[in-house]
Amino acid sequence: MPSTITNEMHLANKKRWDASAKRWAECADSRGIWKKCHEDPSIVFSPTVLKYLSDIKGKKVAVLGSGDNEAVFALAGLGAAVTSVDISAKQLQYAAERAQELDLSIQFIQSDVTNLSAIEDAQFDLIYTGGHVAVWVSELQKYYQEAARILKPGGWFLVDEYHPFRRVWKKTSDVLEIQNEYYHRGPYEYAMGDDVLYQQHGVYTCYEFHWTIGDFINAVIQAGCLIREIDEHGTYVGDWEVSPMQGLPEFFLIVAQKQIAS
Ligand SMILES: C[S@@+](CC[C@H](N)C(=O)[O-])C[C@H]1O[C@@H](n2cnc3c(N)ncnc32)[C@H](O)[C@@H]1O
Repeated sequence: MPSTITNEMHLANKKRWDASAKRWAECADSRGIWKKCHEDPSIVFSPTVLKYLSDIKGKKVAVLGSGDNEAVFALAGLGAAVTSVDISAKQLQYAAERAQELDLSIQFIQSDVTNLSAIEDAQFDLIYTGGHVAVWVSELQKYYQEAARILKPGGWFLVDEYHPFRRVWKKTSDVLEIQNEYYHRGPYEYAMGDDVLYQQHGVYTCYEFHWTIGDFINAVIQAGCLIREIDEHGTYVGDWEVSPMQGLPEFFLIVAQKQIAS
């Protein structure tokens, strides 16, 4: 049973993601990564993430906001028992079809990441989340608190998000010019079409949240986790990003561990 989604902004985002799922799946097909990542996780994960996955075989792992499920398939390929959580039933439907094609056994749960009541406490050895998930979530604190709740004490929490320094620019291809103040978290309300990557004005109202580096770090600490490593990584600039962001970090990673009660 999916847990009830009551957050109106998340419900609006869910509607957009359901509508976008077909196009998102087509983009993933053209990249082709989902077909290969269960055999080569280095296509999906940075060297620092891979370091924390060295003994993941046989462990219970959850991916929150699983989207294209490339991280899910990579973890399953490494031998983990993976639970894939996403708010969009359509996204999960594509992922389930692909998992079947790859012969991977995955548990899929439709849920808002700020209410994981379908999952009991202290279930997982590791939680991975990121790659543009927090931008859709209005309550970062609740999201990471829920992640920490379903982690076993001592379990690992990996937040691997698109770098906030890339969210502030005008979509102009020749020059970097600030569009949104770094400290303005939003909500940013847009009326968009069904293509999340190459955006156009349309009928779907959606809400974005621009969390700062400090917000991410504090939310992890306040969820009861100890930060073990921070890594800013990646240099790639996709054509969908439009602005000339060469030289800016692409992702930043927080590696944390749920505290063991003394
Ligand atoms: C950009 S994708 C996730 C990253 C993944 N690497 C990808 O590129 O597909 C964003 C995903 O977050 C999901 N999502 C958005 N808001 C959510 C929420 N409140 N709870 C759970 N999932 C959410 C969307 O349905 C979508 O599948």
